[in-house]
Amino acid sequence: CGIVGATGLNQVLPSLLRGLEKLEYRGYDSAGVYVNGGDAGDFLVREKGRVSVLEAATKNKNITGTAGIAHTRWATHGGVSVENAHPHMSEDGRFFLVHNGVIENYDELRDTYLQGVKLHSQTDTEIAVQLIDKFSRENNMSTFDAFRQMISLLDDNSAYGFLLMDNETPDLLYAAKKKSPLLIGVADQGNVVTSDAAAMLDVTQDFIELLDGDVAIIDKKAVRLFDVQGHEVTRESFHLDIDASETDKGVYPYYMLKEIDEQVIVAHTLSQYYFDDNAQIQNIDDDIISAIKAADRLYIVAAGTSYHAGLVGKRYFEQWTGIPTEVHISSEFAYDQPLLSQRPFFIFLSQSGETADSREVLDNVVKQGYPSLTLANVMNSTLTREANFALPLLAGPEIAVASTKAYTAQIIVEAILAHAVGDSQIDLKNELAKTAVEMQVIIDQKDEFKTIAEQALRGQKSAFYIGRGLDAAVAVEAALKLKEISYIQTEGFAAGELKHGTISLIEEGTPVFALLTQSKTAGLVRGEIAQVAARGANTIIISGKALAKKGDAYILPDVNELLMPLLTVIPAQLIAYYATLDRNLDVDRPRNLAKSVTVQ
Ligand code: G6P
Repeated sequence: CGIVGATGLNQVLPSLLRGLEKLEYRGYDSAGVYVNGGDAGDFLVREKGRVSVLEAATKNKNITGTAGIAHTRWATHGGVSVENAHPHMSEDGRFFLVHNGVIENYDELRDTYLQGVKLHSQTDTEIAVQLIDKFSRENNMSTFDAFRQMISLLDDNSAYGFLLMDNETPDLLYAAKKKSPLLIGVADQGNVVTSDAAAMLDVTQDFIELLDGDVAIIDKKAVRLFDVQGHEVTRESFHLDIDASETDKGVYPYYMLKEIDEQVIVAHTLSQYYFDDNAQIQNIDDDIISAIKAADRLYIVAAGTSYHAGLVGKRYFEQWTGIPTEVHISSEFAYDQPLLSQRPFFIFLSQSGETADSREVLDNVVKQGYPSLTLANVMNSTLTREANFALPLLAGPEIAVASTKAYTAQIIVEAILAHAVGDSQIDLKNELAKTAVEMQVIIDQKDEFKTIAEQALRGQKSAFYIGRGLDAAVAVEAALKLKEISYIQTEGFAAGELKHGTISLIEEGTPVFALLTQSKTAGLVRGEIAQVAARGANTIIISGKALAKKGDAYILPDVNELLMPLLTVIPAQLIAYYATLDRNLDVDRPRNLAKSVTVQ
């Protein structure tokens, strides 16, 4: 979920709606806004679906006011409905609350404190706002104290970013944060609060970070901040040098297409940033390199597409540094930590730097005293702040839910890091520059993938991606891309494993995409392609130039074999994109998903 709030702006509604649009990547099941209209009264509008639906619903309502809060939701507790949309209101209509996170003991709190209170939703958040109301009425507490009292009752596992308004103090925003990001933005005309700075760049580029346990009271002129012990603290703001226009779609119909294209620039930028003119590594702290050298095993931990980037990176670390490397799904590692080596080193991969599953692991790792490094696209995010070290992916804002350029950026930074620690025996800077050029060649042939997607996938319910070695690693990412946006059930498979069970799913015409870029196993994969073709599969072969044969659907330019995943994934991304367009679906906003999942 994403939250924004503002006080002191001339008209607050347009800023809140624009902010919510920028936060839609955090979920778009429902959206809502509360504006305090002073004499004009309270405005509360909530709608199922996108921010655009909410925006339409706010028209003709003469909403006016200088302070308000808003929310875009990714449903956890309680289904997708207007009643479950935020902001939630207390029974007497005085308090309004938006929340990102999960209150784990909400059942218990309801049973203990709210007997007899009529609840209007199935959400944990409504419990919180009703508690505030109860404490302020029955215990005669100030709003600030009632807010803190409610927070003190949440169990340890709960996570929250809260933003509260009280219509008796119309200019004030109350904010609190734990395990869920929240920033206060300061500007001359007023102050704002947001889950992500990018949402409020139109208003300000200066932000104060809230830390876990902090509570704040914000009015249009001042910010008062209290730490976890309740002591008032002062904290400097930091200036963010991001331009709001970087998050625009420009001439592209969808962000995903823009971001696929941007992979060329990303590859180029990374090779400039991490290498000097003599192809020597720069901008990687010596301390990072020596910490990795001191390790006897590397643990890469991530979720989703970032996990898939880890599967590729493992190869670089093992081959170039000689250090055994494991790759783990963060939500699994968090509660079933494997037996660790004597001197582990942790590498977290994340586009957003906010994924709650990964943060849980990092928390555990920090508690156990092990060293860690985060590679993230959003610097200053939770995972970058809480690890010992962090390195940027420099992919620029990624907005489409299906991750593309963050994946390639992660692979490149893993390669650079492994090269910095060990020795790749190749001129990596030069190889990356060459790869960027070849990426452009593929991207310039988009029409070929449009044709492939339409011919192979129109009307299909399922599909496969197969490959061996690095191609198997790309196959799982390729399958995820296709299934998550087109809803075609797709499996990514190690080609050799297919015959041990899954091959029974192959029917006449089943599309099987084969990735074939690794010379060691090319012959075997050709055999596996023949096995599925013999059973009726429609095989679509994407091969490296050196291994290509007549009849292959697309031939990739040749780069160093270890870097081939950076090329192989592009056809897969474009095939997913065009298959989704062909089905008239929203490429950037697939159903049920959120770009950044800040709950476990
Ligand atoms: C969500 C997104 C995925 C992403 C995953 C991990 O599920 O929909 O695209 O790969 O989170 O996110 P991170 O920001 O940690 O890379």
